[in-house]
Amino acid sequence: MYGTEKPPGDSERTAFRQAEKKYKLYYDDGSLKSSRKKKQVKPVDVSDVIDFKAISEAYERGGELPAGVVVVRCGSPRPVFCLEGRPGFYFIPGALSLEEQCQWMRESLLSFPQPPNRTNHNAIYGPLQDLFAAAKERKGLVKDESNGDCPTWKFVDEAEIPLRGNVCRSYPASALLRKLRWSTLGLQFDWSQRNYDVSLPHNKIPDALCQLAKRLATPAMPKGEEFRPEAAIVNYFASGDTLGGHLDDMEADWSKPIVSMSLGCKAIFLLGGKTRQDDPIAMFLRSGDVVLMAGEARECFHGVPRIFTDKDTAEISPLELHFSHQDDCFLLDYLRSSRININIRQVF
Ligand code: OGA
Ligand code: MN
Repeated sequence: MYGTEKPPGDSERTAFRQAEKKYKLYYDDGSLKSSRKKKQVKPVDVSDVIDFKAISEAYERGGELPAGVVVVRCGSPRPVFCLEGRPGFYFIPGALSLEEQCQWMRESLLSFPQPPNRTNHNAIYGPLQDLFAAAKERKGLVKDESNGDCPTWKFVDEAEIPLRGNVCRSYPASALLRKLRWSTLGLQFDWSQRNYDVSLPHNKIPDALCQLAKRLATPAMPKGEEFRPEAAIVNYFASGDTLGGHLDDMEADWSKPIVSMSLGCKAIFLLGGKTRQDDPIAMFLRSGDVVLMAGEARECFHGVPRIFTDKDTAEISPLELHFSHQDDCFLLDYLRSSRININIRQVF
């Protein structure tokens, strides 16, 4: 009705919000959700999105760097790029080998969501064991009322799902896997308090991931100092999922980088300035890319407004090939419409 439309709030008017809207997934009818009717994805203008893969390839052939992009070598086998005007931000295209991408993708699905690590499902269902296996085996999650006052949830085979009336009181594990949005490793981040809760039970971050993060962090570390991975947040994105503009400001020492690894479908990353009013810089993140944010870059708003899950834009063919074995067809199916981000932090 005329006049009922709310005026845009202040947050809608910021440069960061405008960029998020520009890149977000819309369908051609203006809706945000795909439906049974095959809708077309609204085309997006990516002409302003920095492509570090193309820049890196041109640079390796002896070409020039675009204005505002600089390279630091720091002994790493791959060029590391920085942006003038965003000190403390580092982009390492293709930093992870295909094997590393596959290894951490698998771990992100099979072991990282395992208790005592927590996930977004904890608040509703408590700790869930073997979510990925349960989804693969088409199990359902049912309430186990056998321990009286404190019911728990467990995965059971389809055939064992109790029927109440004709209503099936279970949640398919596959739907819960699709709705897995985050898991936390090492020191547990408490999203409700937006802080680390050192009293929560936790396992150390796996050694191999620590070693990898230490190696990747080198370009952003003060000389002679070693990065100490203490916590990691794993983000899972399905088609249409976004990560809104935010700051990661709960760690004590901002001179230490956040080491952020991309796995799976291609995405757009927005790197803003110190306020939401600053125009963000958009760049593609592909599987295997690594971003470091240290020092002043820790004060910059950033987010992920878009992931690309279409066959021709996801850029995951090498991963698909790797997971083409029969045993991996469930993982392959997940991968085709998903992106995973592992970001590793030194908390103290
Ligand atoms: C985060 C984050 C970026 C990404 O989890 O804090 O900024 O690439 N992730 O998903
Ligand atoms: Mn972040």
